[in-house]
Amino acid sequence: MSRIGLFFASSTGNTRRIAKAIKKRYDDETMADALNVNKATPELFGSYEQLILGTSTLGAGALPGLSTDCMGGGWEEFLPQIEHLDFSGKTIALYGLGDQNKYAEEFVDAMGILYEFFKARGASFVGAWPADDYEFISSKALLDDDFVGLALDQENQKLMTDARVDAWLKLISPAFGLPS
Ligand SMILES: Cc1cc2nc3c(=O)[nH]c(=O)nc-3n(C[C@H](O)[C@H](O)[C@H](O)COP(=O)(O)O)c2cc1C
Repeated sequence: MSRIGLFFASSTGNTRRIAKAIKKRYDDETMADALNVNKATPELFGSYEQLILGTSTLGAGALPGLSTDCMGGGWEEFLPQIEHLDFSGKTIALYGLGDQNKYAEEFVDAMGILYEFFKARGASFVGAWPADDYEFISSKALLDDDFVGLALDQENQKLMTDARVDAWLKLISPAFGLPS
C-alpha cells in the first residue's frame, strides 16, 4: 500500500486536476492515486498515516457536496462518515481552491472547515502557506497570517499555480518523506 493517501472533492474538476498533477510526481509506493472522496471508504481513508486532502469551496463558503450541486457528493457527505475516527499521530497537508475576486469574503473557506474538522480529531498539519500574494477580505482558512494549507485560484491566478504547487510540495517534503 502507498504511504500517502491523496483525496479530494471537486465540482468542475479543478481540484481533481491538481490532485492528479501532484500524484504524477510520485511513484505508487510513495503516493496512492488521487481518489474522489465520493468513491472512498472510511476504512481506506483511515488506513493512511499521511494524507494530502484537496477541496474547492462552493456555495457561500461551503464544502463541496450534494447541496452545492457537486455530482456524486463530496466532503459534505464524507465527513459524517469519518467523524468517529481518531487522527492522532496522523499528518495532513491541505490544499484548497477558490476565487478570491468573486468570493472575497469566503475565499477558500472549505479548507478552513477541513482543518477544524481534522484538528478536532487529533491530526497534525504541515504546509501552512503565506497569504501575501492574494487579495481577499476574509477566509476561514486563515490561521494567524497564514493559510492552513496551499490556496490556489484558477480563476484569477492560474499562471501561478504550477510554481505554487512546486514550492508547497517542497515545503511538505521533509514531513512526508517525499523525494525532492
Ligand atoms: C457556485 C459557486 C460557488 C463558489 N463559492 C466559492 C466560495 O465561497 N469561496 C471561494 O473561494 N470560491 C468559491 N467558488 C470558486 C470555486 O471554488 C473555484 O471555481 C474552484 O476552482 C472550483 O474547483 P472544483 O472544480 O474542483 O470544484 C465558487 C464557485 C462556484 C461555481
